[in-house]
Amino acid sequence: MMANVRKPMVAGNWKMNGSLALLKSFTDSLESSSTIDTVLCLPAPYLTAASKGDFALGAQDCSQFESGAHTGDISVSMLKELGVEYIIIGHSERRQDHAESNIVVAEKVQTVINAGLIPILCVGEPLEVREANQQNEFVLEQLQAVQTICGNEFIDNCVIAYEPIWAIGTGKTASPEQAQEVHKFIRTELLKWNSNAANTQLLYGGSVNASNAEALFANEDIDGGLIGGASLKLEDFAAICKAAG
Ligand code: PGA
Repeated sequence: MMANVRKPMVAGNWKMNGSLALLKSFTDSLESSSTIDTVLCLPAPYLTAASKGDFALGAQDCSQFESGAHTGDISVSMLKELGVEYIIIGHSERRQDHAESNIVVAEKVQTVINAGLIPILCVGEPLEVREANQQNEFVLEQLQAVQTICGNEFIDNCVIAYEPIWAIGTGKTASPEQAQEVHKFIRTELLKWNSNAANTQLLYGGSVNASNAEALFANEDIDGGLIGGASLKLEDFAAICKAAG
């Protein structure tokens, strides 16, 4: 097996929140550390204004198509021109609000990888699936859809975020044990497809905050977090980054 070179990552997901004034406070004051990858996934209109920040730029979605008649959509090459390095793909809110299927999500992963950017692929089960204790099967199916379209190589260039839907924006975080269990399952399955999965950054997302981050990130297969609500508060986000480093 390859040496473990996983660097912790904290990625903020502002969703459809924030303002140019809030962004200025982040670009002025957020200091990234060399020991972790700090990423801010911003609403697309703010990406240009963020280019001077001390963090890597992320987007929250892109089209699966390279260009063309797709009104309102944003292409990966446009995001790349703005300095974007990471793109969240398959967030549960997009799967729900925009009926994004596993297949569309897989096509987007491939489009991002083809452009040389890194997808942050989101997977995670709804409450009823967790209650039936079927979370591993559910997540595996989401990953297999990507494998079918992208092949095992996608693992070489992909961050994966496990975000149980029942924990997103609810204040109901998965316990460190629950999160580690699924993360370990994901890594074990990915390793069957590609030995480089030993190096894949696996993020946990769902009500991570400044108080619970450290206990979550202390687990072997949890390499950091995808942070929603708490990424809108500079102090909280900085504290979460510190907990990862
Ligand atoms: P939350 O969102 O931290 O507000 O729960 C996480 C996410 O949806 O990425």
